[in-house]
Amino acid sequence: MVFPLFCVVGLLVLLMNEVGLCNGGTTSGFVRPLEKTVDMPLHSDVFLAPPGYNAPQQVHITQGDHVGKGVIVSWVTMDEPGSSTVLYWSENSSYKNKAKGNFVTYKFYNYTSGYIHHCTIKKLKFNTKYYYEVGIEHTTRTFWFTTPPEVGPDVPYTFGLIGDLGQTYDSNKTLTHYELNPATGKTVLFVGDLSYADNYPNHDNVRWDTWGRFVERSVAYQPWIWTAGNHEIDFAPEIGETKPFKPYTHRYRVPYKASDSTAPFWYSIKRASAYIIVLSSYSAYGKYTPQNQWFEAELPKVNRSETPWLIVLMHSPWYNSYDYHYMEGETMRVMYEPWFVQYKVDVVFAGHVHAYERSERVSNVAYNIVNGICIPVRNQSAPVYITIGDGGNIEGLATSMTEPQPNYSAFREASFGHAIFDIKNRTHAYYGWHRNHDGYAVEADSLWFFNRYWHPVDDSTTTQG
Ligand SMILES: [Fe+2]
Repeated sequence: MVFPLFCVVGLLVLLMNEVGLCNGGTTSGFVRPLEKTVDMPLHSDVFLAPPGYNAPQQVHITQGDHVGKGVIVSWVTMDEPGSSTVLYWSENSSYKNKAKGNFVTYKFYNYTSGYIHHCTIKKLKFNTKYYYEVGIEHTTRTFWFTTPPEVGPDVPYTFGLIGDLGQTYDSNKTLTHYELNPATGKTVLFVGDLSYADNYPNHDNVRWDTWGRFVERSVAYQPWIWTAGNHEIDFAPEIGETKPFKPYTHRYRVPYKASDSTAPFWYSIKRASAYIIVLSSYSAYGKYTPQNQWFEAELPKVNRSETPWLIVLMHSPWYNSYDYHYMEGETMRVMYEPWFVQYKVDVVFAGHVHAYERSERVSNVAYNIVNGICIPVRNQSAPVYITIGDGGNIEGLATSMTEPQPNYSAFREASFGHAIFDIKNRTHAYYGWHRNHDGYAVEADSLWFFNRYWHPVDDSTTTQG
């Protein structure tokens, strides 16, 4: 009897794992006490509506153009539409500029939304603090943001990473830890699953409103870059709601047209020295689909001399060694992984699995159905894959892991937390993951990133677990 070569290789790998010759990375020894993860009640202070007639609430901002000179300001009024105009002025000027927006409403089963305003401010100066005022004509509220520096290869910039946040006591801890982290993230890359309203009967959209009020304390002051997760789909034919992403798309706007995308679920932005591509795990991505066509045309546009750091955000991870959502990202991996390797993506952030995991630089692109080469291998052109779906939502932690820890997995831990991706220059970025059980500055996992374009070979990364 002849064993196919891949069976022999597979057996060898298994054997090496058994005797400890293959280092499958580290499974953290930190075991979080298992507590029930529950949503904060409706009367919680973090959900309080601001006082005053028709006061703007759920204020949030995101990037409004391709390079960071635009900001989309969104908010909700409850009593009447009121004005969709934003007044804004730079720190050193008292002259108030005006930008006009508009508002939308939507119904979801027996819920009717407030008046959801969206206003894009354009042609701002780079690296400038602006104040902005909303609620003109009734109760006004004033916030501020700082625009990013002009796009360039050595521009330092600090991103926060949050995913699968929800609105539990643990979610509140995650957000607080992010806010008080001395690394001071300037923009959040949010990897999907926002409110978890769909866990309530009839997807009670009141929980979209409470989530909007909860996160306002951060997202009104710094942009959050949105990725759509499965909890944004809100597909509920049993109550007649058959249009996917209805609450999400009415409430959260992204600058997708600025990157020639035809839908808000996949798009790109430049920010400082980073080129960020957002993909949709829940939109068609196969050959000939709009997302595929856009993504294929998008990658050659990335000029690594201008934006050395190529970051991809998606919801469903490709390299996941938890039992939860295992291999759900596989079909997209098969479609897109060769491009990620070809274009040397630096890092991929995903959520979905409610835990933390960081991969080695691996790829799995050699398999062609008949050759049996289907085990991920180290590849210096491949990204690091990071699962950061540990925001702390109502569904609780993913604690069950595949054993033994696969070789592609460098570090994993079932805890809630957030991360910081701190770009220093064109060659170096420092990454740290922070669990909620530690002090604000403590890193439970960290890694120096050497840029794949400017530093393609040396992989002398330092890690701690
Ligand atoms: Fe998810």
